[in-house]
Amino acid sequence: MNRPEGQNARYLADYQPYPFILSHTALDFTLVPDATIVRATLSLAPRDAATGVDLVLDGGKDVQLLRLTINGAEADPAHVTRDDEALTIAAAALPSGPFTLETEVQIDPSANTAFEGLYISGGMFCTQCEAEGFRHITFCPDRPDVMATFDVTIHSDKPVLLSNGNPVSQTEGHAEWHDPWPKPAYLFALVAGDLVAISDSFTTLSGRNVALNVWVRPGDEDRAGFAMESLIKSMKWDEDVYGREYDLDVFNIVAVDDFNMGAMENKGLNIFNSKLVLASPETATDLDYERIEGVIAHEYFHNWTGNRITCRDWFQLCLKEGLTVFRDQQFTSDMRSAAVKRIEDVRTLRARQFREDQGPLAHPPRPDHYEEINNFYTATVYEKGAEVIGMLKRLVGDDGYRAALDLYFDRHDGDAATIEDWLKVFEDATGRDLAQFKRWYTDAGTPRLTMREDWAEGTAGGTLTLTFTQETPPTPGQSDKQPRVIPIAVGLIGPNGDEVAPTRVLEMTETEQSFAFDNLGARPVVSALRGFSAPVVLDRQIDDPTRAFLLAHDTDPFARWEAGRDLALSALVALSQGQPGGDDYIDAIGRLIADQDADPAFRALCLALPGEEEVATRLYDLGATPDPDAIHAAREGLARRVAEAHQDLLSEIYDRMVVSGSYSPDAEAAAKRSLRIAALQLLNRIDNGERAEILFGIAGNMTERMAALACLIARGRGQTALQVLEEEFGDNRLVMDKWFTVQPMAAPPADAAAIAAKLAKLPGFDWKNPNRFRALIGGLTANHAGFHAADGAGYDFVADWLMKMDKVNPQIAARMSTAFETWPRYDETRRAKALAALEQIAAIEGLSRNTREMVSRMIA
Ligand code: PHE
Ligand code: ZN
Repeated sequence: MNRPEGQNARYLADYQPYPFILSHTALDFTLVPDATIVRATLSLAPRDAATGVDLVLDGGKDVQLLRLTINGAEADPAHVTRDDEALTIAAAALPSGPFTLETEVQIDPSANTAFEGLYISGGMFCTQCEAEGFRHITFCPDRPDVMATFDVTIHSDKPVLLSNGNPVSQTEGHAEWHDPWPKPAYLFALVAGDLVAISDSFTTLSGRNVALNVWVRPGDEDRAGFAMESLIKSMKWDEDVYGREYDLDVFNIVAVDDFNMGAMENKGLNIFNSKLVLASPETATDLDYERIEGVIAHEYFHNWTGNRITCRDWFQLCLKEGLTVFRDQQFTSDMRSAAVKRIEDVRTLRARQFREDQGPLAHPPRPDHYEEINNFYTATVYEKGAEVIGMLKRLVGDDGYRAALDLYFDRHDGDAATIEDWLKVFEDATGRDLAQFKRWYTDAGTPRLTMREDWAEGTAGGTLTLTFTQETPPTPGQSDKQPRVIPIAVGLIGPNGDEVAPTRVLEMTETEQSFAFDNLGARPVVSALRGFSAPVVLDRQIDDPTRAFLLAHDTDPFARWEAGRDLALSALVALSQGQPGGDDYIDAIGRLIADQDADPAFRALCLALPGEEEVATRLYDLGATPDPDAIHAAREGLARRVAEAHQDLLSEIYDRMVVSGSYSPDAEAAAKRSLRIAALQLLNRIDNGERAEILFGIAGNMTERMAALACLIARGRGQTALQVLEEEFGDNRLVMDKWFTVQPMAAPPADAAAIAAKLAKLPGFDWKNPNRFRALIGGLTANHAGFHAADGAGYDFVADWLMKMDKVNPQIAARMSTAFETWPRYDETRRAKALAALEQIAAIEGLSRNTREMVSRMIA
């Protein structure tokens, strides 16, 4: 194997089991903001008594060792060594059988700005241990295959003291928790704060009563109800669909304001970014509600796929994440519209994962090396990991999938498992050989699938032969790609618009392969890659009238939407290159707008033009150099033409899609609002913001208000509305995050960087808060032509903030640096400016391992 990343990288091939067995961990915390004392008692035994190896415990330099005993006796300092990452106790100092190791350490949560380990957020103590945060709390084997039961004692004057498992005792200033399920340290959690709960209960399949609590800051109780409802739905769904039951007496969720990610599945004590818990109609959008429901489900589902069965090592991260994303996607499809959910998921996959797969940061769903694991919580591990499971399910069928999952839970409960274990249960349950399929896990890159059609009249009443070829472009470190198994769902539609062959899943395994359809009579139109049956780029010879035909007649909602999207992209590609285009799209979209029978959410998805970055990607795929300004102009121009051509239909929709009665975030009401907003966004191009201004003033929900605000900003008339929002919600962090995002995001591109720079100077730009930082920086990078401004102002602004953030919170800096991952696509001038910005970051002395790895991969 080649090892290109230098000596800092870790390799999958080097895996060795930990040489000791840790059966139990007892922790005792005395919480003091700048001087917390942690006493840990680890029950250890050598895995193999004969070997006599040193005991290496992970522990960062922020952990100050006060005392260390083995079986109660003070350790001889000569046998104990320390470096920045670990504590080593020489084999000579260790008993040959089981022993107890006790440590007492001091840590400083108040100085923890990286939000990894034990930190303080808004006066509350909380923890984040995935992936390697526990080593900032105390010394221990901090790896997922070392699993132990836990007892936790907390001393603190905070009124609410929580940890994993079941409560043992709670008195003033003191609490004890016991977690009977062995778990790795990354699933440990502790919370201590002035919190209030909204509470409910759930009775499981076998009659166990579970107390449920959503803990929030006093004053936020009235915004936690939807999270609780979502939790109860999730618990029920996992029983109904996967037969999985909850396994403790309590399930606690805590909302915190400072959190690097979305949420975390700590056993029995999920910790959430408050934006994924708190919602009210006045403060949250429909999309926020949908995300809350989905992420609550995701974290809850981890209890089985992640916690009861965890990962052997971090290379296997997609074992739990891909599967849990797949499960939360299934859940959302069941709760809402399956068709709409699929289209939304494909949109995200393409925008985030395809982008990653086609650039310098490409890696397989199961990477075989990394420098910093936190850089691998990516769209590839999560979203592509889920797509791969979707393909598996398509190949083995619903019953095969269920049998394989039952076997997985049965065989691996309590294990730290691998992708090999996962594939083996599918092989054993279904008898299928998955050796070739495994390439989806080990190979990076998005396959390009080319489809050719050959029509032969006469033979067998008319035969259509589809010939597919597959090719995966090289990715960093992987130049040679073997063919993969690709499930291609295909249906055929007759010239009169009727379906003549229902969906059939073709199984492609070769580089080139043909499939024949006989007895067709007349030549049909092919509806290919239905439901987006595989995460590939499909290339086919198809003209705009045929796309319009599919948009009108396809029975598969994804393929139908895709036809509309392709029409729009083909128009935008032409227009951005100074050629004519768009007439077919405008006609076809007119028919769809008028189609009262189509689901409003579906119509809304079709009405929204592809984003500018999507157009850039298409151009790049076609071998052209995308020009962000030309793309912006082309998209604005086409939107205006659609609005002019269909003004009457659109304003009718806008006036009719009003949801009466009080706000409800359910799918049906949200669908109507989304169609209304799609119409508004088009009309906004010709009414100079008139409707948006009225809507902002009267809308009773945040969904419509934010949409209206973005429209106003795009027209350069957002000032008053922004002031109104600030006056109304100045003390609401989550609303103010939106306020910071929408300004650079919706602004005319030429102003975006300057607007972001101005906002960054406001006292409200509390940049050490990850949500606020992401709001502003992410708002700018979401403005494609604004971030990629030819003068480099966008690049410089973002690079400056990444350098600043890196010193405080390396995870956030590294993650946001992916804004630059597409830089090689653009013209010479932009490339030079982006590269200069990246090189400036790389040159920083003391740059974190996180950001260094990201930047060097992007420059390489
Ligand atoms: N495991 C979390 C999830 O997917 C994500 C996470 C990773 C959160 C690392 C915090 C830190 O649900
Ligand atoms: Zn997850």
